[in-house]
Amino acid sequence: MIAIHPRPGSFSDRWIQYCEEHTVPYKLVNCYDNDIIDQLRECKGLMWHWAHHDHKAVLFARQLTYSLEQAGIKVFPDSRTCWHFDDKVGQKYLLESLATPLVKTFVFYEKNTALEWSRSVRYPVVNKLRGGAGSENVKLVNSQSEASRIIRRAFGKGYKQKRRRYFLRERLWQFRRDRNFRSFLNLSKGLARLVIPTESEKQLPREKNYVYFQEFIPGSSFDIRVVVVGKRAFALKRGVREGDFRASGSGVKEYDPARIPIECVKTAFYLTTKLGGQSLAFDMIMCDNNASIIEMSYAFVTTTFPGFWDEKLEWISGECRVEDFVIKDFLNEIKEKACDAQK
Ligand SMILES: Nc1ncnc2c1ncn2[C@@H]1O[C@H](COP(=O)(O)OP(=O)(O)O)[C@@H](O)[C@H]1O
Ligand SMILES: [Mg+2]
Repeated sequence: MIAIHPRPGSFSDRWIQYCEEHTVPYKLVNCYDNDIIDQLRECKGLMWHWAHHDHKAVLFARQLTYSLEQAGIKVFPDSRTCWHFDDKVGQKYLLESLATPLVKTFVFYEKNTALEWSRSVRYPVVNKLRGGAGSENVKLVNSQSEASRIIRRAFGKGYKQKRRRYFLRERLWQFRRDRNFRSFLNLSKGLARLVIPTESEKQLPREKNYVYFQEFIPGSSFDIRVVVVGKRAFALKRGVREGDFRASGSGVKEYDPARIPIECVKTAFYLTTKLGGQSLAFDMIMCDNNASIIEMSYAFVTTTFPGFWDEKLEWISGECRVEDFVIKDFLNEIKEKACDAQK
């Protein structure tokens, strides 16, 4: 028996479907329950696709995961897969320690050290918060005075992780791009959100007392996302927004495998093996024909892929979804563990 925490719209939709179709015994649980550990006693595994913007999940999901692992219960995402999730600061140290081609990244915890650095660097540079998705907390910094303003604020009142004005601008851009009823509704929702903030905007703590900058890689009209699940790699290419350098969240996506530099697939396989993650998405940009990592995450918006590369870098054609492979691998590992225990 495995346990699944259902979150509509997340990986759990397909996991539940998979269990039903393959008669896998499962039960639905609520990880926020105080007695969750007791509820999981009869289970071999827990699957919970928690999101970065769930302010309650980020309070304890990692701690719950680690505790269950100590008791021999398998978890998706496991600790190795999720400890660095939505944490670009953590990822900087992890990727640097593995000597991977991370875009040069600078993090400061002292205002004066950051200001000193800002006087010595060539502009533009990129500023980010440690969390966020869809480019929401990523901006180009063109001058030292701009950098200095960002640094003073980072060590002063800090930044909100979710900003409704930003989302309204995004919705406006999507409306201009699509000009259909759906994007119009979306824009209207954004206007309403100006008055009524989302729960995550209200509840997530402010980001402060650190500042994050990255070298700017110029001239990229796209980024590449490679998702590795076990020994399979899925990829897509994401175009930048018009007149902007940021691809993540643009909605401009391409899945043709012929357009994905195989270099990116190799790098993603190599890193997943090193990191030991169950499912990891790597966002990369090409820099002088080399794939440089900008960030990684276990949870992402997913869709149907036209196929995947296997570990020999051979393309396996056929529509598929990553969530199905996540649960397949998860169940296999539980089975293997049970067999090992019987030996
Ligand atoms: N250092 C960089 N140089 C050039 N472009 C970048 C850089 N970092 C990020 N980008 C662009 O900005 C987008 C968002 O950055 P990312 O760090 O992935 O943030 P998010 O977590 O919001 O997806 C990327 O998809 C990429 O197109
Ligand atoms: Mg990204």
